[in-house]
Amino acid sequence: MSQRTAEAAVRTINDTVQTAGTCSIVLSGGSTRRTLYSLLASQFRAQIPWAHVHVFWGDERYVPPEDSRSNFRMARETLLDHVPCPPANIHPMPTHFPSADVAARDYELTLRNHFVEEWPRFDLVLLGIGDDGHTASLFPGSLALAERTRWVVAAQAPVEPHVRLTLTLPALTRAAAVYFLVAGAPKADALRHVLEGRGDWIKYPAAGVRLGTGSVIWWADREAAAMRNVSQ
Ligand code: 6PG
Repeated sequence: MSQRTAEAAVRTINDTVQTAGTCSIVLSGGSTRRTLYSLLASQFRAQIPWAHVHVFWGDERYVPPEDSRSNFRMARETLLDHVPCPPANIHPMPTHFPSADVAARDYELTLRNHFVEEWPRFDLVLLGIGDDGHTASLFPGSLALAERTRWVVAAQAPVEPHVRLTLTLPALTRAAAVYFLVAGAPKADALRHVLEGRGDWIKYPAAGVRLGTGSVIWWADREAAAMRNVSQ
C-alpha cells in the first residue's frame, strides 16, 4: 500500500511542480504513514524536486518538537532529515505558545502568507483515519468540526496528548488531492462508514473531507478494506 501511494505521490508532486512551479504537501501523524515517508526519503528521494516542495502539517499534538509524540518529529526522523528540502520550505505547526489557540492563529498566518487566495489550496494532503473515524485532529463530536471560517484551530482529543492543532474541514476540502492511508482490521468499520455511510461527519469526521474540485483517493490494505457489515 505504501509503495503504491509513494508512486502516486511522486507523480502528483512532479505534475504539480511542472505546471505550477511549486507543490504544497500536508503531512499527518500516526504510524501508518511512516512507511510512506521512509519510502519517499529513500527509494523515491531522487524522483522528487524537493527544492520546489513546501511541507505543511494537517495536525499536531501540542507538545515540544523534540517530544516523541510530536508529528513534526516523526516526519523529521522518517522523511525530512533525509531529503534536500530547503528548511525555509518546511512549515511545522508551532507548539511553543502558552496558548494553543494563539498557536493555531499563528499557523493560519503562516498559511495565509503562502496562499494568497481566500482559502488554502494544498496540492497533496496525506491523511489517515482512526478506528473512531477521526482524521487530522478532528475527532467525533468535536466543536472544531463546526468551524466555517478559520483555517486552523486548537482542538481537544479524547486521547493523549489531549491538546491539538488541526486544519479545519473548510481548509482541507479546498485541496487539489487528498490521499487517505488506512491499514489494519480495526479500521475496517470506520472506513466502511466513511465510504458507504450517510456522510455523517460529526460521527465520522473523515466523511467531511469531500473536495469541491479535487480528488480523494483511499489507499487501504486488505485488512482495512475487508468486506464487513457496517455496525449500527
Ligand atoms: C495524529 C494524527 C491522526 C492520525 C490517525 C490515524 O496526530 O494522531 O494525525 O489523525 O493520522 O490517528 O493514524 P494511523 O493511521 O497511524 O492509525
